[in-house]
Amino acid sequence: MLHSTRLLCGLLTGLFLLNAVPAATAQKAAPVTKVAAAKAAPDYFPAADMMTIGVYYYPEAWPESQWARDFANMRKLGLEFVHMGEFAWGLYEPEEGKYTLDWLDRAVALASKAGLKVVLCTPSATPPVWLAENHPEILMVDAQGRRMEHGTRQQGNWSSPLFRQYVAKINAQLAQHFGRNPAVVGWQIDNELSHYGRQFSYDDFSKARFQAWLKQKYGTIANLNRDWGNTFWSQLYQNFGQVRIPNQEELVATPNPHALLDFQRFFADEAADYIRAQATTLRQYARHQWVTTNHMANHRDLNPALSRQDVDITTWTTYPVHGEMFGQNGPLGFRLGSANGLGFMHDFARALNGSEGIMELQPGQVNWGDINPQPLPGAVHMWLMHAFGSGAKLICSYRYRQPRAGSELYHYGFVGPDGVTPLPGGLEYAQAMQEINQLRKLRKPNAAMPARYAARRTAFLYNFDNRFDLDNHPSTTRWGTLEHMFRYYGALKAMSCPVDVITEDQDFSRYPFLVAPAYQLLDKALVDRWTAYVQNGGHLILSTRTGQKDRRGMLWEGPWAAPILDLIGAKFGERPFDMLPGQVLGKVAFGGKNYDWGSWGELLVPNAGTTTLARYADQFYTGAPAVTTRKLGKGTVTYVGVDSYLGDLERDVLRSVYAAANVPVEALPDQFVVNWRDGFWVAANFTSETHAAPVPAGARLLVGTREVAPGGVAVWQE
Ligand code: GAL
Repeated sequence: MLHSTRLLCGLLTGLFLLNAVPAATAQKAAPVTKVAAAKAAPDYFPAADMMTIGVYYYPEAWPESQWARDFANMRKLGLEFVHMGEFAWGLYEPEEGKYTLDWLDRAVALASKAGLKVVLCTPSATPPVWLAENHPEILMVDAQGRRMEHGTRQQGNWSSPLFRQYVAKINAQLAQHFGRNPAVVGWQIDNELSHYGRQFSYDDFSKARFQAWLKQKYGTIANLNRDWGNTFWSQLYQNFGQVRIPNQEELVATPNPHALLDFQRFFADEAADYIRAQATTLRQYARHQWVTTNHMANHRDLNPALSRQDVDITTWTTYPVHGEMFGQNGPLGFRLGSANGLGFMHDFARALNGSEGIMELQPGQVNWGDINPQPLPGAVHMWLMHAFGSGAKLICSYRYRQPRAGSELYHYGFVGPDGVTPLPGGLEYAQAMQEINQLRKLRKPNAAMPARYAARRTAFLYNFDNRFDLDNHPSTTRWGTLEHMFRYYGALKAMSCPVDVITEDQDFSRYPFLVAPAYQLLDKALVDRWTAYVQNGGHLILSTRTGQKDRRGMLWEGPWAAPILDLIGAKFGERPFDMLPGQVLGKVAFGGKNYDWGSWGELLVPNAGTTTLARYADQFYTGAPAVTTRKLGKGTVTYVGVDSYLGDLERDVLRSVYAAANVPVEALPDQFVVNWRDGFWVAANFTSETHAAPVPAGARLLVGTREVAPGGVAVWQE
């Protein structure tokens, strides 16, 4: 009873406290903006520094008598900043309204005295026990309807008005206190905002906010019924108040895919709204400090693009080695991580507003994977230098000291449990920092991107809606959306293309090549933009599953993938696509070679004037076109209708497109990455064999050797 009264009061108060329902942004094509115009921010990350390195430290976990020693040792390793306080709400506010920030004052002062800059954080990921006890409504509710209790982290429900109120209060305290402190250079909002494995909150506040979001989007319930196809299984609603969060745990059959798509959009908008609210509080007091939040790399539920205007730098977290085998390369891959996973996130984050960095990069073994192998000696250093080559401005590592207590006590730090003995990963950070210091001296401020490299600049078009919808409705267990995207991304990097992963609101015309893989949801306006891009000389590469649905996730009332047919110069056959079971591999012939496929293959019927590049080489449709290309205006459109098993077909087709455009590319081994930044070429070897870096005669090798071993790097200046 008491609980429900609180809920009601909370809801009513929330009408005044919460920001207005976040606009449904994710699925709309926003006006096109130039990236550089996104934000005129102060120069938080001076170009001359290129990249800075820091580390997480938890003064609250160690005797105060050791703080000065620890900060001094960080500086000895060459680190330039320290990150503190993201989980310390219970220490900042041990009782409601009683704030104890003096310990952090002392830690900040000592860090600064040791020569370290300080990054502080809002502590919203870890609400204190008294808050959960007094107001259980601030806790999230999982899919099975269970309230998640105090005891770990990310149990807070950011759709709860009361929770937001408490978060705003503690953030204001912190920002007022530290907002003018010259030692503090930046703020991180929350920590990996999410509910981790519990994914979404199914509480009443979230439901009410979702309903309000839907009302704002659809206006009338009749519109919602139409766009969700609710005559199917008689899912019709009479009013918005009847709509629940789609939840498999309370449904007999799979949730309505249109409802699910909208909920995923809502969730991303809601999280972005919460980040915005926290940024607004910080900026009221923080005068000289940058603001960020640390997204999980390649995570699907939150969309960093929705926060690009609210942060000064997009940062993210990554633990490349944790026993996973997906996307890694060769027998050493599990110790090196995936160049595609890391590179894609760098290229996405950087293109959002020009500044990006990794806020958590593993220093060694982690403890939370199913199996937690050691990274290959050198791999940590390679990730750092790969980040440097990718244009990162900041790298921070989790964490300085290996903990002696808590869930992460088998997690490496820079120093071991004794607090002083450097661990191998910590020394690799020190090595990278030393090298960056050397490179700073050699940097040529006006170094222009070499023409042969600029000629292959490629935009990779990314829309979370496609990822949502493809994952919700894959139609075959062999389909992997991210795997498909990474086949293209990996192929581009093997050609040593500079890639920006861009969103629809960005300008395509800056890039000679545009790749939009599996772009399932679209509208005429986007197809018109693609067409104009090609007519003006751009080279567009589309892949399988593109254009099958409208933005609602509905098939077209017309031919298969109707809106793209004029553009690609082909239509789809009476059996538009096939997929193969289990271990069956089909064959596609291209350029005298056969390629395997199994997950998704489309049967194209080219128009006159469209060239068939590849054909199926078996099954009952042997000879049917699988890949086509055509000229249109001054450019070309290539459609790759099949998802190959190894990504080799995509790689070879892309090479043929660049060759036809007379743009020379490199032929690097898969996951041997070469990037250019500030006049430096940086090669990183994520493969399991030694390879020669393409260092031209006369170039000056600055780091590493020309022959680059697995986990090794080479840096040179031409
Ligand atoms: C991250 C998290 C950190 C820490 C780390 C351990 O995902 O943000 O707080 O838990 O994992 O590897």
